[in-house]
Amino acid sequence: MKKLIIGNWKMYPASLKEAKTKFVAIKKTASKLSNVQTVVCPPLVYVSELKKLVTGHRVVVGAQNAWFEKEGAFTGEVSLAMLASVGAQYVIVGHSERRALGETDELVHKKVLAGVKAGLTVVLCVGERERDPDGEYMKFISEQIKSAIHGVQKKELKKVVIAYEPIWAIGKNAVHPASSDDALEVSILVKKTLVDIYGKDAASVPILYGGSVDAKNAWEFLLKSQVDGLLVGRASLDPKVFGEILNEADKIK
Ligand code: PGA
Repeated sequence: MKKLIIGNWKMYPASLKEAKTKFVAIKKTASKLSNVQTVVCPPLVYVSELKKLVTGHRVVVGAQNAWFEKEGAFTGEVSLAMLASVGAQYVIVGHSERRALGETDELVHKKVLAGVKAGLTVVLCVGERERDPDGEYMKFISEQIKSAIHGVQKKELKKVVIAYEPIWAIGKNAVHPASSDDALEVSILVKKTLVDIYGKDAASVPILYGGSVDAKNAWEFLLKSQVDGLLVGRASLDPKVFGEILNEADKIK
């Protein structure tokens, strides 16, 4: 399976011009790599503009969030169907930064179902705020997955990706980066949770690791944590660093 490397640009960069420059630079590297599927998730307002710069399949565009209803009186929202109609192929759902803004498990669940129905690949983010010595976080993660994918049909699983993002390892305020063992433990848990529900076919659902991934640690997660790819925040905004991550991923067959 190709490695799936997703850049989550969050609310950067400040202008469309910069977004285009970054995207073109990333595309230059990504389009050469046959062993990597690259996805860039810019702020919503840039999605359709960057989509115009897509050529081929090796690098495509996704979104960081959307609303679950198809259309309606939801001032300020953008629907998953709208995103699909402008060419987004992926959508991140349940990122911890959105959950921190009040997104509940119930809302995440609705977005997962609607995203799959809209034909997008849903990148469901799960992860604990902190680790407790008794391992309660394992139960927490497993419950997050179960509640979010409840009602997703087995045949729709090919439209689902699970990203393990321990909150304590994300962003500038990360306590410390997760180790490849931390990620391995949870990637096994995610697989088991899915297989318990859907049977062994679910073993093909890609699992990503995210949280302080950079050009130095990317290979370690990919090689030692049994993950199929990475969800990259800060490092995806620097085309040089992101290019290094993509090149590392390409080397791992
Ligand atoms: P980070 O963010 O790579 O900057 O830690 C990851 C994410 O929030 O998806």
